[in-house]
Amino acid sequence: MKTILTGIRANSVLTLGNYLGALIPMVRLANHYSADNHINIFIPDLHSIISDIDGSLQDNIIRTLKYWLAAGLVVNENIHIYRQSYVPAHSELCWILNCTATMGETSRMIQYKEKSKGQDTCNVGIFDYPILMAADILLYGAEFVPIGEDQFQHIELTRDIAMRFNRKYGEVFTIPAKTADQIKFMGLSNGIRIRDLLSPEKKMSKSTPAENSKIMLDDDPTRAAKKIMSATTDSIGRIRYDMFTQPGISNLLQIEALVTDTPLENVVQKWTGETSYGELKRTVAESVSKMLADLQSNLAQISDEEVLRILQAGESYANEVANRKLHEAQKAVGLR
Ligand code: TYM
Repeated sequence: MKTILTGIRANSVLTLGNYLGALIPMVRLANHYSADNHINIFIPDLHSIISDIDGSLQDNIIRTLKYWLAAGLVVNENIHIYRQSYVPAHSELCWILNCTATMGETSRMIQYKEKSKGQDTCNVGIFDYPILMAADILLYGAEFVPIGEDQFQHIELTRDIAMRFNRKYGEVFTIPAKTADQIKFMGLSNGIRIRDLLSPEKKMSKSTPAENSKIMLDDDPTRAAKKIMSATTDSIGRIRYDMFTQPGISNLLQIEALVTDTPLENVVQKWTGETSYGELKRTVAESVSKMLADLQSNLAQISDEEVLRILQAGESYANEVANRKLHEAQKAVGLR
């Protein structure tokens, strides 16, 4: 059986970007493939503490896990849900991989460059972030890792580190698929990058302070609809999907396609050439507010106990698999 794996941090409530870029694609793949593949979904809580936590990390972890279930993930014996710090092999393997990765390649990571820009006090965790991410993936031999576009560079780095390790110490790690194959596996023609509603040249991010720039999954649906109505567009006056010249409009088309689970080509075909930006915004606002209302009502039905029960089984499985691979890596480098 192969493993499909992804993680979403729990620094705050999730954004629509997390939901549409990673959570929903993974839920759809999990429900499709879980009969004969392992599906690993985890909270990278060690990755969460690289930056400030909005609220209590423990509460955020439980709520984030509930979103997976509320979004329609059907849990069975092949779906493994766990917290990263409850599987110590992740940090152990991270150290071993630290000694294979180079400063040069880690310094080139865009996320590191953005997060450390202009700060001499940037913590070392931000720098080491992609190596821990590589450990998260390599411990389970995951070939496919559904993620948003901003994380593809980290998958490429994971591939490079794993290939270098294997060349030096023997075939220990499964190499994750290349970016183009990851995108194909997700059933897409391009990686997903949901844009900031006010500055659509940037990605939607929980760390942007302007409230109207992002939709959070706990937003009141009416308020979320207003945010869509006030999204920045352009002065061209004709709808066309082109992220370079019309990023605001293209972002709305992409959101509509993902929220309604319609192929992007069909949504684009329907709206191309139309001139009413207001009508497009009203349609997207309605789809997003309905999606949020359903999600929030599902979330309210899920108890903490249910989540804790799922975690217990998931963490026992994850420790067993991860410790086995860690031991192989320890032996390969001579630690055992
Ligand atoms: P995090 O929590 O920052 O993001 C979680 C996922 O959400 C995606 N994402 C977006 N996708 C589209 N548009 C956006 N605006 C947007 N914002 C966020 C991210 O691409 C990501 O897929 N490093 C990972 C967490 C992680 C991980 C792993 C993932 C740690 N170890 C191993 C996969 C495998 C991250 O970005 O978390």
